[in-house]
Amino acid sequence: MFSNELVMKLVSKKSELKAILEPLRVAGKQIGFVPTMGALHQGHLSLVTRAQKKNDVVVVSVFVNPTQFDNQEDLVKYPKTLAADQAMLEQIGCDVLFVPTVAEMYPEQVSAESFDFDGLEFEMEGKFRTGHFDGVGTVVKRLFELVEPHTAYFGKKDFQQYKIIKKLVKKYDLPVKVKGRPIFRESDGLAMSSRNTRLTEAHRDAAPMIFKILKKAKKKFGQKSIEELTQWVEKQFKKEPLLDLEYFTIADEKTLKTPNEISPSAKYRAFIAVFAGDIRLIDNIGLN
Ligand code: PAJ
Repeated sequence: MFSNELVMKLVSKKSELKAILEPLRVAGKQIGFVPTMGALHQGHLSLVTRAQKKNDVVVVSVFVNPTQFDNQEDLVKYPKTLAADQAMLEQIGCDVLFVPTVAEMYPEQVSAESFDFDGLEFEMEGKFRTGHFDGVGTVVKRLFELVEPHTAYFGKKDFQQYKIIKKLVKKYDLPVKVKGRPIFRESDGLAMSSRNTRLTEAHRDAAPMIFKILKKAKKKFGQKSIEELTQWVEKQFKKEPLLDLEYFTIADEKTLKTPNEISPSAKYRAFIAVFAGDIRLIDNIGLN
């Protein structure tokens, strides 16, 4: 983007970020944005590459947002690999990397605002991670207001988050297009996640079962009832002592609620959360 210099700009202050982006926006450049919490992997990079294809300038943020963690240990132990993140982004030609401090994002108090996402926030992750989506909504809204991207890219790995961000944009009439992108997986099917690096070897070996079961559930969808399918999944995980199923839910993609009966016109998705030791992993698959 910056023709006279190929290096990515690394900024930590909101004012610096605005100073870089404002002239580009005035010059009519399309700005693409990929918010992350760092410890970047190919899944994150796929969003950046997509953003590059569709925009003139790409901004990535790395910020481990404290207000979206319901578990303090998860926050403290969240992998931080800024030098490697920076090198990866530089190598693929990202334009701007924004790495704010907590004080920069939360100048007053480090707390989340509360949001009404029309009930999307009470399903699945919302049931098991209290306040999580208020934290996500707070930080993403602040980031959108700062970066003012034309388009922002989110992975369907966090499908509920993606739907909630779409809802946030609609409710607050934010001038951002929100795009959802496919889940990137390891060769054994495990969905890429920054948390995968924290798995023990034994848990890492067991974890591909999550996607295997999702694929089998997809095959069985339509043949078994939702209750039967859920029970079948629960039974499979009981056989694997290294993986502790938190929930398996089949939900309508629009409402994220489990339907009473399957409608041929609706789209359904199976969602799963599993503890592999202390590490919580999530995944999902489209069913029809
Ligand atoms: P983080 O977990 O770092 O993820 C950043 C983005 O990468 C999210 O949109 C997520 O869905 C996407 N992503 C993660 N793993 C992926 C995979 N295997 N394939 C495709 N996309 C993947 O999600 C967050 O950070 C935070 O909640 C954030 C939105 C940055 C707000 O703090």
